[in-house]
Amino acid sequence: MKSIIVYCSKTGTTERVAQAVQRGLGGSADMLRLDLNPIGLQQTYCPAFTIDLEVYDLIFLGGWTMVMRVHPFMACYIRECENLENKIVAGFFTGAAPFSRSHVRADFEALLERRGARPFNFHYTTTLFGLALTKARLRRAEDFARAVLKAYQQTGGAG
Ligand SMILES: Cc1cc2nc3c(=O)[nH]c(=O)nc-3n(C[C@H](O)[C@H](O)[C@H](O)COP(=O)(O)O)c2cc1C
Repeated sequence: MKSIIVYCSKTGTTERVAQAVQRGLGGSADMLRLDLNPIGLQQTYCPAFTIDLEVYDLIFLGGWTMVMRVHPFMACYIRECENLENKIVAGFFTGAAPFSRSHVRADFEALLERRGARPFNFHYTTTLFGLALTKARLRRAEDFARAVLKAYQQTGGAG
């Protein structure tokens, strides 16, 4: 079973959550951080980068909330990546405010549904601009990833 964590992070908070997700998955997932170069093309810091998701069984997509929406880097990735159709996707997002959770989740799931992907579960970490990113919150993200993996294995990927 192959999994990947794709995320965007400006000030490092979501990156720390992505690392917690990686720990929850037992450290075996590929990781890809999205960014834009100065002319706006999508690029990555991961040498093993592929935008094609065909080889992955379980996909974690994460990012930070911007004006109550999925950050545009991640929204762009969801629109443009290859072979997202029918894939099982778990989301992990960070945001300064708890009330943004339902908005970003709805936006995320709408983006996935437009691509024919299968939203599996969703996790939101309240960050208060990094101040509230406690060890307990990182552990919750880790537990979330572990629970998603377990549910995936129990259903054999049937969702
Ligand atoms: C321009 C901008 C808009 C933001 N909009 C929201 C928002 O609507 N809701 C929210 O909860 N947090 C919002 N935030 C806060 C970030 O989502 C939050 O600090 C996040 O954890 C940053 O992640 P990062 O450290 O990975 O970049 C905003 C931050 C910026 C800079």
